[in-house]
Amino acid sequence: MSPFLLTRTLPEDATDAALRADVLHGLTHTPKTLPPKWFYDAHGSELFDRITELPEYYPTRAEREILIARAPEIAATTGARTLVELGSGSSEKTRHLLDALPGLHTYVPVDVSESALTQAGQALIAEHPGLGVHALIADFTGGLALPGTPGPRLVAFLGGTIGNLLPSERATFLASVRALLSPGDTLLLGTDLVKDESVLVAAYDDAAGVTAEFNKNVLHVVNRELGADFDPDAFAHVALWDDEHEWIEMRLRSLTDQTVKIPALDLAVEFADGEELRTEISAKFREEGIRRELAAAGLDLAHWWTDREGRFALSLSVVR
Ligand code: SAH
Ligand code: TRP
Repeated sequence: MSPFLLTRTLPEDATDAALRADVLHGLTHTPKTLPPKWFYDAHGSELFDRITELPEYYPTRAEREILIARAPEIAATTGARTLVELGSGSSEKTRHLLDALPGLHTYVPVDVSESALTQAGQALIAEHPGLGVHALIADFTGGLALPGTPGPRLVAFLGGTIGNLLPSERATFLASVRALLSPGDTLLLGTDLVKDESVLVAAYDDAAGVTAEFNKNVLHVVNRELGADFDPDAFAHVALWDDEHEWIEMRLRSLTDQTVKIPALDLAVEFADGEELRTEISAKFREEGIRRELAAAGLDLAHWWTDREGRFALSLSVVR
C-alpha cells in the first residue's frame, strides 16, 4: 500500500446533517446542550493543542510520562501489528508507542478532524519510513469499520477522551470497540483520575483563557456552518466539578437575555440572562470503576499504570 491513505468513512454531507440534528435537538431541549465533537474544526484542534501545553492542564504531561515509562511493557504484552488510535488528534504522544512497537505494520489514526489527521499523518510517515498509515475520518461513536490489516490489534484511546462520553454512552462505546477486536487483542485506555477539586477546575479554566476560547469555538462552528448569529462575547465560560457524578462540566453562560437566530434550521433560540448551555463533561475515574466497565464489555484489565503523582492512569486490557 502507499505509505499514507486517508479514508472518509463519514459521507461528505454527514457532518452537515449530523450537526443540524444535534444543534436542533440540543438547543430545543431543557437544559440546552451541544455535543463536544463539534469543538474540533481546524481552529478547535489547534486550540486543543494549546490546551495540552498549559501549565494547569496536567493530563497530557502525566499520560506522556506513563507512555514513556511503559512503552516496552505495552509492546511486549500486545505484540501489536496494527495500532488503531481513536480521537488521535495530533498523534503527538503516540510517537512513543510507534517507536516502541517493533513489528508494527499499520497505524490507523481515527478522528473527526480532517486537518488534524492530515497534519499528523504527513509528519508520521516522514519520521517512520516503512510504516503504513491509514487515517480514517470517522466518528468513533458510530459504526466504525477497520481496514483489514494484520493482527494482533491494539486500540489506543488516550487523553481521557472516554470521559467526554456519558456513562451509558461509555458502555455502548466499549462494547463497540470489543466488537472490532478478536480474543487476545488489546485496549490501551487513558483515564484521568478523581482528585482535588481545585486542581481539576483549574485544568478546565486556565488563567490564560485558552479553554474558554476552545469552549466558545463551538459557537463559531454553528455560526459558520448554519449561519447562526451567536455572539461569543455574550457568553461566559464555566467549568464546575460535579461531586455526585465525579465529572467536570463545561458550560456557556448567557450574560444577558438574548435571542440567537439559526437560519439553516429556521430557528430562533431564546437565552435568559444567566441561562447555561452544557457543552461537555469530562468524567474522572477510579480503578475499580474502570475495571468493572471494561469487564462488562468483555475486556479484562491486565495492567494499571499511573504517573508518579497518581493523577492519571493508563490501563491495558485484553479481549476475553
Ligand atoms: N488523543 C489526543 C487528542 C485528544 S482531544 C490527545 O490525547 O491529546 C480529542 C480528540 O478526539 C480530538 O482530536 C477530536 O477531534 C477527536 N474526537 C472527538 N469526538 C470524536 C468522535 N466522536 N469521533 C472521532 N473523533 C473524535
Ligand atoms: N479530552 C479532553 C478532556 O476531557 C478534552 C478537553 C480538555 C476539553 N479541555 C477541554 C473539552 C475544555 C472541552 C473544553 O480533558
